Amino acid sequence: MNRILTYRILLLLALFIVGVWASVSTGVLASDGTDGIRISLRADDLAVVQAGEVIYQANCASCHGKYLEGQPDWRIRDTNGYLPAPPHDASGHTWHHSDDLLFEITKYGPLVVIGDDSYKTIMPVYKDILTDDEIIAVLSFIKNTWPEEQRSWQEQVNGTQVDGIIEMPEKKSSILEKLLK
Ligand code: HEC
Repeated sequence: MNRILTYRILLLLALFIVGVWASVSTGVLASDGTDGIRISLRADDLAVVQAGEVIYQANCASCHGKYLEGQPDWRIRDTNGYLPAPPHDASGHTWHHSDDLLFEITKYGPLVVIGDDSYKTIMPVYKDILTDDEIIAVLSFIKNTWPEEQRSWQEQVNGTQVDGIIEMPEKKSSILEKLLK
């Protein structure tokens, strides 16, 4: 083979390897959460939301409550160190997290997102139970129930950060109260 051609191929190969290494090491490939994929929920798509409600009642309601109200004393760990399931309504803090982070918590479990193998949780990992579309649907249903204030707050989190956790002063209003009115 022509020697110059061989050199050119080697040079291209070297550039390719350096390119891949650079993007991995600078985190370009993983910039959108732990899986590198940015998820957008579809909370205003009625068909998705209705499908999500069915998935919610079948998979999540046993812990997070039929009306998204969570379990009693959800901030206090039990004697074995496990937290009860938090509410997904406005009284909880699900709406403090970006669409992408909510997807990752549900798909991979809080443990992966927190990045601590010793973290104790009863929240299941849904990777092998629900498809990505089903996870998006169930979270879209949850998001759809949030009042305007929580919705607009969460949209700001979405706009500014991928793995954002923002603390907000405690809010009294609950979607359950609103649903029961
Ligand atoms: C066996 C009980 C259980 C089931 C079933 C369950 N969860 Fe959870 N979930 C929990 C617990 C407990 C936590 C609190 C995480 C921890 O332990 O730190 C949690 C936390 C979460 C969070 C994070 C909330 C926040 O404010 O940080 C999301 C999102 C979530 N669950 C979504 C879901 C979805 C969606 C389903 C159904 C597909 C589901 N969970 C089913 C127990 C459960």
